Amino acid sequence: MADTTTVAAPKVAIQVTVNGNTYTAEVEPRLLLVHFLRDNLGLTGTHVGCDTSQCGACVVQLNGETVKSCTVLAVQADGGDVLTVEGLARNGEYHPVQQGFWEMHGLQCGYCTPGMIMTSYALLERNPNPSEEEIRHALEGNLCRCTGYQNIVRAIQYAADQRANGGTSGAQLAEDLPG
Ligand code: FES
Ligand code: FES
Repeated sequence: MADTTTVAAPKVAIQVTVNGNTYTAEVEPRLLLVHFLRDNLGLTGTHVGCDTSQCGACVVQLNGETVKSCTVLAVQADGGDVLTVEGLARNGEYHPVQQGFWEMHGLQCGYCTPGMIMTSYALLERNPNPSEEEIRHALEGNLCRCTGYQNIVRAIQYAADQRANGGTSGAQLAEDLPG
């Protein structure tokens, strides 16, 4: 009977900038970006909801593009620039999108929330004043099993208002919340 030899998969050296910090690592070629962020870097704000590209819980920005990080290999991010939900706050202040989810109760269990926030961030970067229809269209790749989406839409409207006007109509949005 022939001998069996176990061969370790060769690792690949990568360098990735995440939230302004540059990391080098040796990773297996099959490692997904989401697992690199969570397991290698400890950035567990990026969630895995499905692993099949359905739910959007893993959304991050890679080189300024919105990606589902369960569909990207870590080696594909080599030399790249990644922004995760942990990188949105500045000087201890929430980003307006984060503030919007807080103020408008845009979450319940919170599992979808990091992906929702990153998708919302990308939407407002390219369209600072989206209509409700445009917001709902932008969220089509993100699934939420809890909220019914209404308060997520309000959270994004709040964030858009914060960015444009310093939040002059945010109080009205809050007043309109049911209950
Ligand atoms: S974990 Fe990536 S889309 Fe669901
Ligand atoms: S808040 Fe629970 S899945 Fe969205």
